[in-house]
Amino acid sequence: MRSTLSDKKLTVLGAGKLGGILLRAYLKQEVFVLHRVIATVKREERAAALAKELGIAVTTNNREAVKGADVVLLTVKPQIIEEVLEEIAPEIGADTLLVSVAASVPTGFIEEHLAAATGGKEDKVPVVRAMPNTPAAIGCGMTAICGGTHATSSHLEVARTMFDAVGRTIVLEEKHMDAVTGLSASGPAFAYIILESLAEAGVKVGLPRDIATLLAAQTMKGAASVVLETGDHPALLKDAVTTPAGCTIDGILELEEGKLRVTLIKAVVKATSRAGELLFEE
Ligand SMILES: NC(=O)c1ccc[n+]([C@@H]2O[C@H](COP(=O)([O-])OP(=O)(O)OC[C@H]3O[C@@H](n4cnc5c(N)ncnc54)[C@H](OP(=O)(O)O)[C@@H]3O)[C@@H](O)[C@H]2O)c1
Repeated sequence: MRSTLSDKKLTVLGAGKLGGILLRAYLKQEVFVLHRVIATVKREERAAALAKELGIAVTTNNREAVKGADVVLLTVKPQIIEEVLEEIAPEIGADTLLVSVAASVPTGFIEEHLAAATGGKEDKVPVVRAMPNTPAAIGCGMTAICGGTHATSSHLEVARTMFDAVGRTIVLEEKHMDAVTGLSASGPAFAYIILESLAEAGVKVGLPRDIATLLAAQTMKGAASVVLETGDHPALLKDAVTTPAGCTIDGILELEEGKLRVTLIKAVVKATSRAGELLFEE
């Protein structure tokens, strides 16, 4: 699959944090080839710096940048998606795959705006919506993708290849995308707070901070890897650690009293409902 993408011309619109992570992975792994990749940003000075760093063309002109592109990756903020779609619509057609990572922006919104901006001419553009997360920066990302009205399985395969370059990818129905945003896109922030708290606890019981952080991080990584590799239910794995009348059960009692579960559930529910609002803000 990778070799097929190397034939394609990619344009990344809005190469900020996430766009930059994806671009760097594509260039390093040769998912796309250097001379067929172009990116845009808002500010001229950032364009120059990024072009120098990555060795690709970077401009501030979205419309020019998408001319002749096979794949357009939209990594601008949800609030400016509408203006960017209007700008690029005249250069986008049914043979351009548009992949958007913008939180809360439905594929239908993108399809309608492209059609409206071209007086109904471009109403068959294949759109794939994706929701990655920041561990993508080290190849440990989790991305969910879904296809719009005109996206075929081969469009989804192209998108899958683009996100497999930075971790795991799953295909889901679009109705789940806000939930994915609340769980796996916001999730690293929740996990860092848990990890930081465990490290803080280690300091409280006398461990040097760097050791406490290492123990907490490797423990979380290990526990997550066991779930992924065995497929076992986390509750069963927890039971296996919890010796009758041992120390773990005392710790679990504290967690239950502190309502850790309810708090985490509420955090994801809040983040999910917030994910549905972003598009409608100025
Ligand atoms: N960060 C995450 O964890 C995450 C996870 C999943 C999805 N997302 C989605 O990814 C998207 C980008 O998020 P981010 O965190 O990467 O934001 P970011 O770092 O602020 O990047 C946004 C980029 O857009 C550029 N930009 C602004 N206006 C533009 C315009 N009119 N034309 C072209 N480029 C323009 C900015 O240019 P300058 O560099 O010149 O300012 C910047 O490079 C959002 O839609 C977000 O919902 C983010």
